[in-house]
Amino acid sequence: MPNSVNRYEEPMNQDFTHTILGKTDLKVHRFGLSAAHRGAEEDIFPHLSAHNPGVVSYTATRWRYLLRRPRGWPKDSRVPTAGECYRFVLSNPNVHVCLTAPSNVKHLEENLAALEDGPLSAEDHAFMCKVGDAVHSKKKLLG
Ligand SMILES: NC(=O)c1ccc[n+]([C@@H]2O[C@H](COP(=O)([O-])OP(=O)(O)OC[C@H]3O[C@@H](n4cnc5c(N)ncnc54)[C@H](OP(=O)(O)O)[C@@H]3O)[C@@H](O)[C@H]2O)c1
Repeated sequence: MPNSVNRYEEPMNQDFTHTILGKTDLKVHRFGLSAAHRGAEEDIFPHLSAHNPGVVSYTATRWRYLLRRPRGWPKDSRVPTAGECYRFVLSNPNVHVCLTAPSNVKHLEENLAALEDGPLSAEDHAFMCKVGDAVHSKKKLLG
């Protein structure tokens, strides 16, 4: 049974992090991670090496908000593709599996094709963080 942790808006208590990671009957943990919710990078990933679990991530598109233009985002600036959202997550060496929920065959093919592009470049990673910050800062309006 995988453990599931939603770490979205608030820092996680470090004792809790170690408690859940240290449960020896839980070999796989599932964390929410996206460009708009990067808290696991600080709260969880630095503590993985002591326990070495499998890591499954979900919500890469942040409930699709990362695929839309954030309020105030320049009209002539692009927004991420779904593929970039999944690649952002999979670029993180701590993540073993990124869930995807394509709603049709076209999405499925696009998302599988995106994997061929491999990890994001530093420039594209910075772009994703910038959009993610814009989405996150609008959470009260959007989420
Ligand atoms: N997110 C959560 O809080 C959560 C919690 C527990 C379990 N899960 C499960 O985890 C799995 C993954 O969920 P997720 O939230 O991580 O899914 P996700 O892949 O981040 O989002 C899925 C949505 O992204 C859009 N999408 C996917 N590929 C696309 C493409 N190529 N082009 C345009 N839009 C695309 C689709 O939106 P449209 O439908 O609008 O086209 C699709 O419904 C699901 O089985 C879900 O039930 C999720």
